[in-house]
Parts: sequence; C-alpha cells; structure tokens
Amino acid sequence: MGALRRHHCLIAAFVLAGLLLVQAEARGVTSAYRRRLEAAEDMPLDADVFAVPPGHNAPQQVHVTLGDQAGTAMTVSWVTVDEVGNSTVMYGRAMGRLDMAAEGTHTRYKYHNYTSGFIHHCTLTSLEHGTKYYYAMGFGHTVRTFWFTTPPKPGPDVPFRMGLIGDLGQTSDSNSTLTHYEATGGDAVLFMGDLSYADKHPLHDNNRWDTWGRFSERSVAYQPWIWVTGNHEVDYAPELGETTPFKPFSHRYPTPHRSSGSPEPYWYSVKLASAHIIILSSYSAFGKYTPQYKWLEAELKRVNRSETPWLIVASHSPWYNSYNFHYMEGEPMRVQFEQWAVDARVDLVFAGHVHAYERSHRVSNIKYNITDGRCKPVRDRRAPVYMTIGDGGNIEGLADSMTEPQPSYSAFREASFGHAVLDIKNRTHAYYAWYRNADGVKVDADTVWFTNRYYMPNHDDSR
Ligand SMILES: *[C@@H]1O[C@H](CO)[C@@H](O)[C@H](O)[C@H]1NC(C)=O
Ligand SMILES: *[C@@H]1O[C@H](CO)[C@@H](O)[C@H](O)[C@H]1NC(C)=O
Ligand SMILES: *[C@@H]1O[C@H](CO)[C@@H](O)[C@H](O)[C@H]1NC(C)=O
Ligand SMILES: *[C@@H]1O[C@H](CO)[C@@H](O)[C@H](O)[C@H]1NC(C)=O
Ligand SMILES: *[C@@H]1O[C@H](CO)[C@@H](O)[C@H](O)[C@H]1NC(C)=O
Ligand SMILES: *[C@@H]1O[C@H](CO)[C@@H](O)[C@H](O)[C@H]1NC(C)=O
Ligand SMILES: [Fe+2]
Repeated sequence: MGALRRHHCLIAAFVLAGLLLVQAEARGVTSAYRRRLEAAEDMPLDADVFAVPPGHNAPQQVHVTLGDQAGTAMTVSWVTVDEVGNSTVMYGRAMGRLDMAAEGTHTRYKYHNYTSGFIHHCTLTSLEHGTKYYYAMGFGHTVRTFWFTTPPKPGPDVPFRMGLIGDLGQTSDSNSTLTHYEATGGDAVLFMGDLSYADKHPLHDNNRWDTWGRFSERSVAYQPWIWVTGNHEVDYAPELGETTPFKPFSHRYPTPHRSSGSPEPYWYSVKLASAHIIILSSYSAFGKYTPQYKWLEAELKRVNRSETPWLIVASHSPWYNSYNFHYMEGEPMRVQFEQWAVDARVDLVFAGHVHAYERSHRVSNIKYNITDGRCKPVRDRRAPVYMTIGDGGNIEGLADSMTEPQPSYSAFREASFGHAVLDIKNRTHAYYAWYRNADGVKVDADTVWFTNRYYMPNHDDSR
C-alpha cells in the first residue's frame, strides 16, 4: 500500500514538474512596442489612391482571383460606370500579342438608394501554370492593360510566397500596409476578410466599395487575392430594406467555390504550389448537418499531403484570441471544427477580425465533455498554430486592450498595424514573418520557421 502511495506521489511529482516546465516555457511575449493611437479616418474621396482612371467608360477597380482550384484559371473583374461596355478580356503572353479572348458577363445591384456601376466578371481558363499573362479590357472605349502570373503547378516541394493581410479598410494606415506589402512582395494574398468597411458610413455608402476597389487595384489587378468574408461583408441592414446577406461582396468579388465542390462563395479551397488552403465562413452556418460542415468534412478527406504538404485554414473570426476585442467570438467554430483540424494535422490557421496581431503556440482544447472539467488549452504538437492578422489598418482603429495575464496559448501579441508573409520553402519548412508598419520603416517584428505537421510531426517550430 505504502509503496503504491509513494509510487503515486512520485508520479504526481513528475507530472507537477512537467507542468511547471511547460508553464515556464509557455510564457508568451506581449510586445512593448506601442504605436501612436490616433483617430482612424478613411482617406478623403479626392485622395490620389481613389482617382478614377481617365477616358470614357474606362475599366476601374480591376481585380483578379483564382478562377479554379489549382491555378489554371483566373477570374478578372472590373467596373464601368458610363455605360455597359464590353465584357471581353483579351490576353496573351506578350504585351503586344493579346491573341486569346474570353467572354465575360456583367451584373449590377442596388443597395438602398445606391446603384452600382456595371460589374464585369470574366474567367480565363486553360492557362499554363507559373506563366505571366498580359490582359486587357474596355474594348470599344478605353482599353486598359494589366498582367498577372499564374501560380505554379501544385507539388510537394514547390516554393511559394504568400502575403497575409486582414481587415484592410481604406485609411492612410491601410495605404501604409499595402505599400509595405508591395515592398515585401508576395505572389498572392490570402486576405482574412473585412475589405472596404463601407458599412461604417451612413446607409452603408456603397461608393466606399468603389473607392476601395480603386485603392486596392494597384496590387489586386496584378496578383490573385484569395478572399475570406468578414462581418463587414455581411451588409445585412433590414432598417435600409437590405436583407440579402453579402450583397455588395458577392456581386463584386467572385470566388472559385464550385471547383472545390462548395455550393456557396464563402467557403471553398484553393491550391497554391505546395499549400492546400481552406477558406471558412464565420458568418455562414457551420453547425452539424449544415452545408459548410458537410463540405469541410468531405474536403479534409480530399486533401493530399503528398501533393500539397501544407494545410492551411483561414476564417475571419479567430479561434484563439487573447484581446478583449471579439474575445471568444470564435468559440462556436473552434468547438465545431478544432478536433478535425488537429486530426487532419492542419499546419496553420489564419484569422483577422481583431485589429491587432497575435500568434499562438501549438495548442489544442479538445478534451472537454461537459462533466470532466478538462477545458483548458494544452500544448499539442499535432495542433495548428493560430495567427490573428486583423491589423490592416481600418476606420475602426487598433484593438489595444488585452486580457491579462497573457494566457498560456498566446506566444506573441502586439497591437500594431501590419501584415505578414508566409514563405514556403519545401515540404518541410516555411519561413513566416510579421511586419509592423513602424513609422514608415519595414521591420520584421515576429518571425518563425514552421515545420510541416505531416512530414515533420514531431519537430517543434523554431524562431
Ligand atoms: C498612398 O501610398 C502611395 C504609395 O506609397 C502614395 O503614392 C500615395 O500618395 C498615398 N496616398 C495617400 C492618400 O496616403
Ligand atoms: C441617398 O440618400 C442620402 C441621404 O438621404 C443622400 O445624401 C444621398 O445623396 C442619396 N444618394 C443617392 C444616389 O440618391
Ligand atoms: C468586344 O470586344 C472584342 C475585342 O475587341 C470584340 O471582338 C467583340 O466583338 C466586342 N463585343 C461587342 C459586343 O462589342
Ligand atoms: C496524391 O498526390 C500524389 C503526388 O501528386 C499522387 O501521386 C497521388 O496519386 C495522389 N493521391 C491521390 C489519392 O490522389
Ligand atoms: C467525460 O469524461 C470523464 C473523464 O474522462 C469520464 O469519466 C466520463 O465518462 C465522460 N463522459 C462522457 C459522457 O463521455
Ligand atoms: C527545406 O528547406 C529548409 C530551409 O530552407 C532547408 O533547411 C532544408 O534542407 C530543405 N529540405 C530539403 C529536403 O530540401
Ligand atoms: Fe471583422
């Protein structure tokens, strides 16, 4: 009996020592860096970044996104305002040789007393991977020419450099974030939702969707941005007679959801080089038996880590967040999907929503069964790292109030505007860096070497 008790005590002591060790190691960093907190206002309507391109019926707000799951199609969108114009895109491999044509379509919508311009969408198909294409539209009136490079053919060791931006808006901070991203230079952007913040203006002034489209064109016309929808895309306003959720967003920003078998544009997947990226919608139903739940269940089975070793999930509302802003809002989706994410060995989960930056340790919180009290996040090598990158710099300003003390799941947090870049090197290693918009100077404030959860499941990440 005595020996047994001593044995138990010994085990308890070891467990305690282990816990203390984990605790000591778990202490996260709250960056001391503080940005000036000034009022955030949208750039004025006459700002240079909102200038309407010259010429009768000139295409404006040009943007591209992937037109299929694997990167052999690209959807080009633009707006004309003087008249419908021509929905054809001419394209080719040299500026002077646009020898291919694709027919687009156009749409428009009303929002309260706003009527949109003619919104054109045209998908270019059968493209070669990793190839630069020039494209032009506006035939019959003012022709504008742009270019993009299609993503490389998916494969396990294909490197790829991806920008990570969230909650951008259209303030001078937003402009600074975009300028910094242009300097760090990714090949595509994974955008974590909340684009224009038009809904912060009286009557959700949809002219602010147009200004945002013109502002972002300098990047989005030249490389695909992959869209996650945020709460500022919902635009549900019964007081204005507007009861169709996502109306402005869905008319303006198509996504390639059908090519991954999704019935809705708000959740879908794409493959970029060695990454399989799953986009989830925080603002669509995701409970058991819902379309999003069923789609994700099937989608996780379709992921082929031999082809795309990096499994990335993005949604707007973070599952792990230690700021006082939107605290625990992501809990319902975490509870619903975290077990799947751990079982699938998801590498990284990106979110926005909280206007600040945060990176978690690899943690999971999947034991709880109502009666056992096991409801704390614990270190878990099988689990993803959670990143909140909601710090694009919008009209609502920074989230600067944090829960204290810093919880054990939180590895690094800082209330600054910025963006991040994920630099996938091969099937085992990816370099990640977060950049704050520090007074106009590009500084990498948080960097990590991530090791792949499929090919190096027992390795810790390193800084
Ligand atoms: C936005 O940034 C660009 C690039 O740095 C600059 O040329 C432009 O003047 C800025 N506009 C405003 C309104 O801040
Ligand atoms: C919509 O209504 C607002 C408020 O009454 C007004 O300021 C604005 O000019 C109207 N816009 C249009 C296009 O009628
Ligand atoms: C649109 O422009 C293309 C390219 O110039 C041309 O071939 C086509 O006939 C035009 N379509 C219409 C409806 O004008
Ligand atoms: C997974 O990808 C590899 C590499 O591209 C391929 O050889 C294999 O057939 C794929 N497996 C399935 C089930 O599609
Ligand atoms: C909950 O977990 C506790 C502790 O592991 C276990 O005793 C209990 O049976 C579980 N309850 C259910 C309903 O699974
Ligand atoms: C993968 O990339 C990392 C970082 O560049 C490098 O250290 C490692 O050797 C590479 N692995 C292979 C198999 O090339
Ligand atoms: Fe948000």
